[in-house]
Amino acid sequence: MNFRQKIARETGIREGSIPASYQVLGDVMLLKLMKASGEEKKKIASAVLELYPYIKTVCEIKGVEGELRRPKILKLGGNGTETTHKESGILYNLDAAKVMFSKGNHFERRRLLKQAGTNEVIVDMFAGIGYFSLPLARHVRKVYSLEKNPVAFRYLKENIKLNKLSNIEAVNADCREAALEGVADRLIMGYFPGTERFLPFALKMLKDGGIVHFHNSYSGDELWNKPAEDLKALGNFRVLEKKKVKSIAPRRWHIVMDVEVYRE
Ligand SMILES: C[S@@+](CC[C@H](N)C(=O)[O-])C[C@H]1O[C@@H](n2cnc3c(N)ncnc32)[C@H](O)[C@@H]1O
Repeated sequence: MNFRQKIARETGIREGSIPASYQVLGDVMLLKLMKASGEEKKKIASAVLELYPYIKTVCEIKGVEGELRRPKILKLGGNGTETTHKESGILYNLDAAKVMFSKGNHFERRRLLKQAGTNEVIVDMFAGIGYFSLPLARHVRKVYSLEKNPVAFRYLKENIKLNKLSNIEAVNADCREAALEGVADRLIMGYFPGTERFLPFALKMLKDGGIVHFHNSYSGDELWNKPAEDLKALGNFRVLEKKKVKSIAPRRWHIVMDVEVYRE
């Protein structure tokens, strides 16, 4: 029996009001509940706490807001929202109500790990709580993790200690103001929309022949001419790979392009 069927049987609520999937961060479950009434939401949360003993808190997630990616969360049942999430052997302390953690980027994390060389220096321009920086630091020489949101930055620092990593330099700053020049073999731009605004700053931090992982969002019609046009801000570049990461709205995509950049 799947999640939806189990909850429907426990609560008597029709399946159409119950989401087919969910996100679990540590012991916190996040649900998108667009179709449930206020009373149904409370019932669904109680049923989850009853049926899934490892879940301590149930929240509704209504989206992620603004430049600093603050989640819009409503707690429906259980305890606190601070938790420790484990993925691929890395521990992430986080508060699910205050910082985002995109499960959709799981494949992206794995893909980066396969590409990065052990001697590389990486700049993670939008580090968050360390989604890319922490797993990469286990494989490469050095990671610079730049993060503007003070709450996410506090968890990033905590997570570096928690995972006993000594090769990450974390900076609480706007990545456009970082005092790094020509250091990165590989640079991650894990943020959208409007990522193209940050390309001149990426270029400054990159070594000659360095690789940029450019994330952004585009409509289906804009693929792949518009991103290639935007990337001209990097000067000479060669596209290594282009990929749709996930659908984020009807006919709109989160994409990533890997490009190698040359000064001359
Ligand atoms: C989309 S989140 C990171 C997502 C992450 N890569 C993942 O896999 O889930 C983007 C992060 O960039 C941070 N941020 C936004 N603008 C920034 C800036 N100008 N400089 C540094 N960090 C910034 C936000 O606070 C947020 O933590």
